[in-house]
Amino acid sequence: MQPANIYQYKVWDLPVRLFHWINFFAVLSLLFMGLMMLFKKELGITSLEARIELKEIHVLIGYVFVINLLIRLAWGFIGQRFARWSQIWPTKAFFAELKAYRGSIKAGKAFHYAGHNPLGRLAINLLYLLLLVMAVSGLVRAGTDIYFPPFGSLAASYVAAEGVSPEQIHPYDKTGTDAQHYAELKEFKGPFGSVHLYTAWILLSIILLHVAAVIRAEVKEDESLVSAMISGRKGLPGKARDMDEDGSSQG
Ligand code: HEM
Repeated sequence: MQPANIYQYKVWDLPVRLFHWINFFAVLSLLFMGLMMLFKKELGITSLEARIELKEIHVLIGYVFVINLLIRLAWGFIGQRFARWSQIWPTKAFFAELKAYRGSIKAGKAFHYAGHNPLGRLAINLLYLLLLVMAVSGLVRAGTDIYFPPFGSLAASYVAAEGVSPEQIHPYDKTGTDAQHYAELKEFKGPFGSVHLYTAWILLSIILLHVAAVIRAEVKEDESLVSAMISGRKGLPGKARDMDEDGSSQG
């Protein structure tokens, strides 16, 4: 049943919406490519060239993901109210609000928020943390595994034997390398690979939880969260707790 009054709030500015959808498609493609790398044998991808090519494509999409993330991190300090980190990072007052919000859910009258509800805010913090871990571990792997920027030339210089130019060093090819440095680099990059892989699984489960929570809010609370990420305007069946009277318009 449609509620009588829908309160419309302008919430997400254009840079936040652009970030969200670029991030959505980049992470989806990175996960897809990552799973292809993981199940390469099962998919019949056996040649070294094909395996390196897969990594290269994954890294190129990874750059789009990292640049988008960096822009969003900066936008959090200069963007509109709901784009700001002050609205996202948990503050002292946040935990009292979280308790009140959980109480409102238990009472069957969940509060409405123009920005993230407190549970959503927690999930978003965790998501950003995981995205950052993926970005850092991915960039280190890109440099140490296939000698791609920004750390690739440093890694290639390290493994190159004396008198060999770093440009002559190729992925998964020991020609021209110093055996000890090569082994050291291998040891160094190992933990970054494990972190990258396990964080990818955690990220996947948080993404599924995030999608389930958005669907629940759309269906059970009559909140238009998906269209808000497209139009920037969120429609709520009740007044938002985090919006002043003069900052809202009723439609
Ligand atoms: C949310 C973003 C990302 C996801 C979900 C993701 C996922 C994955 C997965 C599942 C793998 C396979 C792991 C394995 O075979 O052990 C992988 C490997 C890899 N990723 Fe990512 N990745 C992401 C971001 C990035 C970024 C930003 C970069 C670098 C720019 C990157 C670089 C790499 C490299 C070089 C490998 C191959 C390393 C290896 O063989 O262990 N990834 N990624």
